[in-house]
Amino acid sequence: MADLSARLGPVVLSTPLVAAAGTVGSVVDFVGVTDFSFYGAAVAKSVSGEPWAGRPAPRVGPAGVGMLNGIGIQNPGIDAWLAKVVPELDPVPTQVWGSAVGNEPDEFARVAAGYAAAGIPAVEVNLSCPNLDGHMFALSPQLASKVISAVRAAVDVPIGAKLSPNSEDIVAVAAACAEAGADWVVLTNTAWGAGIDVRTRRPTLSGVIGGYSGIPIKPLALRCVIEVHRAIPELPILGCGGISTGEDVIEYFLAGASAAGIGTIHFAEPRAAKRIMKELQSMMRKLGVTRLTDLTGAMQT
Ligand SMILES: Cc1cc2nc3c(=O)[nH]c(=O)nc-3n(C[C@H](O)[C@H](O)[C@H](O)COP(=O)(O)O)c2cc1C
Repeated sequence: MADLSARLGPVVLSTPLVAAAGTVGSVVDFVGVTDFSFYGAAVAKSVSGEPWAGRPAPRVGPAGVGMLNGIGIQNPGIDAWLAKVVPELDPVPTQVWGSAVGNEPDEFARVAAGYAAAGIPAVEVNLSCPNLDGHMFALSPQLASKVISAVRAAVDVPIGAKLSPNSEDIVAVAAACAEAGADWVVLTNTAWGAGIDVRTRRPTLSGVIGGYSGIPIKPLALRCVIEVHRAIPELPILGCGGISTGEDVIEYFLAGASAAGIGTIHFAEPRAAKRIMKELQSMMRKLGVTRLTDLTGAMQT
């Protein structure tokens, strides 16, 4: 039997799969829809300090075999989120992580502190939402570092920094986050994208430009994993972007990932994780690999 356990820095995962933020709601919303026992962890949709209304409709749309979204992180704010979600976490058969977002470093820190005080075991810091007006923290090593430093000072729980494939220098941003205290980086969030209906001449998204995700972004995110792993091999990476098969998981590990985020595939196949785990086991058998962690960064060049 192959060993499929995984580790992201200080966090031990029972499986290498992590349900990606925003694709399984608050996680508790998806119990019964998605079988969370196939995940090492599940990340809830990002939450800010105060309630955010998000963008007007249309907020999602197809884009070939990929998907566009421009939700703008509609959420009730951390206090309301904790009051509603935390009492319902018990039946979820995996660890549930929070995702923090904000307009400034202090807001991220306040959200992360709320999660930690409520017993949430780890926090992703969403530096890379493509749907916020104003700056994207993940584009700048300095801004990313300020946010991660503020979160690190506010909580002791493990934190992951979620970065963007649109960064000009993903290695510099990842290094800044690691130095500021991130335990791992998530590579990556969605890529900026857009679509237009030629009949109505209207954009797919009300915000015109939003986040592009799904199978077509795999090479973009994989490139980021390869670059960061080559430059900073000791920094754990949660690879995310377009994963839809067990073979994709292995590809991300070979590139340098230590765990694999499952996102957009949930919309077409909410129970995809069970199939992906089966495919992963079968592919490992075919390849003669007994321990998944042996594959991290094992790409041969
Ligand atoms: C509808 C939708 C909502 C998302 N919301 C969030 C979010 O709230 N926070 C976050 O960090 N990422 C969010 N993401 C990004 C995903 O977690 C993931 O990083 C990205 O979609 C790439 O992976 P995929 O191609 O497997 O979907 C969202 C993605 C989609 C499609």
